[in-house]
Amino acid sequence: MGVNKITVVGGGNTGITTAFLLMLKDLGDIVVIDLPQFTNTVKGKTLDIFEAAPLLGSGACVVGTGDYRDTAASDLVVITAGLPRKPGMTRNDLVKANAEVIKSVVTEAVKYSPDAVILVLTNPVEIITHLAYKYSGLPRLKVLGQAGVLDGARFRTFVADDLNVKSEDVTTLVFGVHGDDMLPMTRISAVNSVPLENLVSPERLEELVRRTKGGGAEIVNLLGTGSAYFAPAAALTAMASSILRHENRLFSTVTNLDGEYGYRDVALNVPAVLGRGGIERIIDLPLTPAEKAVVDKSAAEVKGLLAAYV
Ligand code: LAC
Repeated sequence: MGVNKITVVGGGNTGITTAFLLMLKDLGDIVVIDLPQFTNTVKGKTLDIFEAAPLLGSGACVVGTGDYRDTAASDLVVITAGLPRKPGMTRNDLVKANAEVIKSVVTEAVKYSPDAVILVLTNPVEIITHLAYKYSGLPRLKVLGQAGVLDGARFRTFVADDLNVKSEDVTTLVFGVHGDDMLPMTRISAVNSVPLENLVSPERLEELVRRTKGGGAEIVNLLGTGSAYFAPAAALTAMASSILRHENRLFSTVTNLDGEYGYRDVALNVPAVLGRGGIERIIDLPLTPAEKAVVDKSAAEVKGLLAAYV
């Protein structure tokens, strides 16, 4: 029996991979919930994960279900449910379908776990994180989303590969939206404190940023069906660990803003410290006028989509 209880909503590739990593890190007991018609599949996959635990030194109990009653009293609810992109689609093409999914998921999840922190992955993540907050009735800082950790991991990977250094030593922060206008903040990116701008030419850096922005699409196009799931699941697991173990790690986090950075009623990636209460604090990082202009445009776009589709 683990100390924490974690519900993963969605038994697709991302949900199942997340459950596997949560088990591996022994972060708590895990329930994966999928639609009732997929109950046997999710039970089978979670049983397989549960049976791997003794070989990996994990004490986690892992079960699958189609019934929200089994998710009761969760400390953390991770939402991966929803449709993924197909080649040629943008994340925003998913708004309507996934906005409908999120309403029932959040309502049911909160009914049985009123004290949970909610961590959203479903795309378009800024809109779904905002809706999850609205539908949940939970305090604002208990509902957050994952995007910047994944985008940052992609940037770190490409930089490390290019410079032949260990990716763990590359630090960065990706601000704003999970889309073409995401802002990998190269001016504060570094390899063990050595500024990236001293290590990579401006042209090369631009190329690494370009690949990061298209990182999700690069995988969607290679797969032909479905989207990335190993790195997204790893990103969720890192955030889950910081929350459940109160590690207070600073992550780029999709945050429902209420005046921070001058934005309200919109969720965007900003630097935040994650602990047991969810977002423990939002970090105020001065943006240059050019950076602010990019984020202003993103905020307006997200708000426009929200107004048009929901
Ligand atoms: C990606 C999708 C999951 O970036 O948004 O891979």
